[in-house]
Amino acid sequence: MRLENEVFVVTGAQGGMGKETVKRFLEEGAFVVAVDLNVDGVVESDYLLPIAADLTKEEEVANVFSSAFEKFERIDGLVNIAGIAQPATPIEEVSLADWEKIMRVNATAPFLTCRAAVPFMKNNGGGVIVNIASISIVRPRPGLNAYIASKGAAVSFSQALAIELADYGIRVNVVNPGPADTKMLGEFTAKNNDIEATKESVFKKSVPLGRLISPNDIANSLVYLCSKEASIVTGSVLNVDGGRGI
Ligand SMILES: NC(=O)c1ccc[n+]([C@@H]2O[C@H](COP(=O)([O-])OP(=O)(O)OC[C@H]3O[C@@H](n4cnc5c(N)ncnc54)[C@H](O)[C@@H]3O)[C@@H](O)[C@H]2O)c1
Repeated sequence: MRLENEVFVVTGAQGGMGKETVKRFLEEGAFVVAVDLNVDGVVESDYLLPIAADLTKEEEVANVFSSAFEKFERIDGLVNIAGIAQPATPIEEVSLADWEKIMRVNATAPFLTCRAAVPFMKNNGGGVIVNIASISIVRPRPGLNAYIASKGAAVSFSQALAIELADYGIRVNVVNPGPADTKMLGEFTAKNNDIEATKESVFKKSVPLGRLISPNDIANSLVYLCSKEASIVTGSVLNVDGGRGI
């Protein structure tokens, strides 16, 4: 098993990619702290600790990490999957409140969780962080202005941490998913557009390998980046996108 006995905090654990990642990490022998706004129906076990938290709130983030440490007595890794979409919107119609909300969830929450995780990792003499951004930062789509800015911030922040934390044996990487077959994909379409038709005619067509990215594609890349197989990989951005970024 590739993550045996390691403790990971996984955010966005109830979403399309998050659920699959929690499952795969458990299969690889990890202990998992599964965090989302709502964790109803997720049953605690010796290996799994579900925690409901709004990761834009400092005190809730602090509680996630103290509860995780209380149960598992160490924290080896953090995988930030939580995020929100933006319906494609012309820039002059984007409200300040919408901009700030997207930045708070997609950029500030990873800052808060990384800041909380790093002291535990420094104490362990190492650790690993993976932040999920988006291939849209490489190939933007019209109207996703705030979303793309927030994901760009997440990438720059991750690379800044990769250099800052290298001396401590803490690796920090990014995964850029391409259009993925989850609930979120429909949330990028402009208001009043047919979601299912857009998935087929716009998103699927945009992937050179000819299919949407599956949650399992993302979970596989996360297992790799969090495992010892990637022990020399830091500051990298892995596009898991079927070639969409080319
Ligand atoms: N689906 C795609 O096509 C696609 C493409 C590129 C990147 N991404 C990114 O991948 C990640 C996962 O997306 P997904 O497709 O699984 O989406 P999803 O909507 O299924 O899951 C996102 C999860 O994040 C949680 N979340 C949102 N705000 C939160 C908060 N404040 N605190 C705690 N949890 C919160 C939601 O409750 C949800 O369960 C996101 O960061 C997204 O931006 C998705």
